[in-house]
Amino acid sequence: MKPVRKAIFPVGGLGTRFLPATKALPKEMLPIVDKPLIEYAVDEARAAGIEEFIFVTGRGKSAIEDHFDNHYELEQTLAERGKQDELEQVNQAKLDAGQVAYVRQMSPLGLGHAVWCARNLVNDEPFAVLLADDLIQADTPTLAEMVDVYETHGGNVVSLMEVPDHHTSRYGIVEPGESNGRLVEIRGLIEKPAPADAPSNLAIVGRYVLQPSIMNHLSEAKTGAGNEIQLTDSMMAMVGEVPFNGLRLEGIRYDCGTKSGFLAAGIAFALMREDLAPEVRERIGRLLEAE
Ligand code: UTP
Repeated sequence: MKPVRKAIFPVGGLGTRFLPATKALPKEMLPIVDKPLIEYAVDEARAAGIEEFIFVTGRGKSAIEDHFDNHYELEQTLAERGKQDELEQVNQAKLDAGQVAYVRQMSPLGLGHAVWCARNLVNDEPFAVLLADDLIQADTPTLAEMVDVYETHGGNVVSLMEVPDHHTSRYGIVEPGESNGRLVEIRGLIEKPAPADAPSNLAIVGRYVLQPSIMNHLSEAKTGAGNEIQLTDSMMAMVGEVPFNGLRLEGIRYDCGTKSGFLAAGIAFALMREDLAPEVRERIGRLLEAE
């Protein structure tokens, strides 16, 4: 079994739900406290042993490339001013030369299309996909747990969470088979079903471990829900072809592609920080009292 060494970060979307903020700023660069969303995703991939980081970008996304690159002037100034902590934080974000690749999606035709754009970089290896706008607060990094499942069972692995029945039309939903603790066998998948058509209320969170053969399915993929090329449709075509499991998420997932999810994540992550929590708690308390 080949190890999961590569991860794809699809960052080519338009982020229309976050306009006007995302007109000139990539959605994935929106900060949660003081770190952009994409850096949380990269850190999660690092924690799972990922060695190659593949970003599928689009127009107006160059801030993402700059974020993971050297910035000599800034680094020199921080060093001269003795700002060691800040310098360390800036250095921590960097990806080493040869570890990172950027491929351009050109037209945002959907998540499936974005993943397919990375096919020549993935070659014949299994790979992870992380959606930076799905931010996860968990004791053990989610992708690392999924890689463990892959190392035992092989095939495809997705992260799952229960959603209210009336929210199924916002997610990819799975048809579950046998369950064993947090592990769920996957017998089918459907993108954004109406509640009446949903086979369960188990939704896919933006974390995937996929076999490279999905690229063959994506090559032939037609547009699906929302008139986009959906990753879910090609994953469905792999049911029965490879082992296919879901791992129930242990932690909290924030949909930072929505305004309320993004705001909630900002508060939750600030409350976890010793340097910020007391003041943030006090300010929120005062705001609520004033309501
Ligand atoms: P979303 O479904 O959140 O789409 O994509 P979006 O375009 O970013 O945002 P909205 O819906 O218009 O507000 C989930 C992830 O997939 C990437 C996005 O960048 C995001 O990280 N994506 C989506 C692509 O890379 N390419 C696409 O064509 C679509």
